[in-house]
Amino acid sequence: MSDGGERRYGPLGTALVIIPTYNEAENIQAIVSRVRAAVPEAHILVADDNSPDGTGKTADAIAAEDAQVQVLHRKGKEGLGAAYLAGFRWGIEHGYGVLVEMDADGSHQPEELPRLLTALKGADLVLGSRWVPGGRVVNWPRHRELLSRGGSTYSRLMLDVPLRDVTGGYRAFRKETLEGLGLDQVASAGYCFQVDLARRAVEAGFHVVEVPITFVEREFGDSKMSRDIVVEALWRVTAWGVGKRAGQMLGRRDPDRRS
Ligand code: GDD
Ligand code: MN
Repeated sequence: MSDGGERRYGPLGTALVIIPTYNEAENIQAIVSRVRAAVPEAHILVADDNSPDGTGKTADAIAAEDAQVQVLHRKGKEGLGAAYLAGFRWGIEHGYGVLVEMDADGSHQPEELPRLLTALKGADLVLGSRWVPGGRVVNWPRHRELLSRGGSTYSRLMLDVPLRDVTGGYRAFRKETLEGLGLDQVASAGYCFQVDLARRAVEAGFHVVEVPITFVEREFGDSKMSRDIVVEALWRVTAWGVGKRAGQMLGRRDPDRRS
């Protein structure tokens, strides 16, 4: 059977929704219930960094009642990136074919997950995107919107990544895509982890599709966004961009580029 030169995509395996948590006791039950209702065949892995508010214990109680929910207990707060890397490793070892990233606070609506998974049938990676037509944010303070839009624009220009929402954290990966990203070399700890994975996917030649989502700001608990997270993102994105340009000037030209 010929595919006419187009990439063919294998069937999607079972999905594992990875939910990183740090002090999400007020949110964990609701998010798990919503995922289970929206995509009943999916499994869930809560990756908790020993939250002082007892999120890990609550998650254990949920897991004890539901064979499709598991909890990965980590020693302490090491950042979103480290929690996802541990979750991805766990999921791949346990044979899942699709790995989903989702925040615990309800900002990433589980009811939109079927659309992401449908798009993944014809893609290597699907990004839930706030900044494509049809995407939006609800109840986000103006300064967060500016930071997110600015961060995406800066990353797109610095890194030549043709994506609108580079920092978002609602994503669905095929297992094979994650295996092709060189996760062992990822050092990003904070939210720039998301930028890091997006640029790696583009550089590796994967087909990345953005699907519009409605991001709803949390009602309960606090964002973990901090000055340190912004500073890490700024210096890493700048360093990646400078490194990329230096490589191009030294003659490692990318033949696919038009200019
Ligand atoms: N295990 C673990 N360890 N989880 C963490 C940590 C950590 O150090 N830091 C944050 N989280 C979890 C939170 O508990 C939540 O489930 C999720 O990661 C996102 O954290 P928030 O603090 O709610 O992020 P946000 O709403 O400010 O930021 C959103 O926008 C960013 C910029 O677009 C998220 O969607 C981010 O993923 C995104 O990068
Ligand atoms: Mn949030």
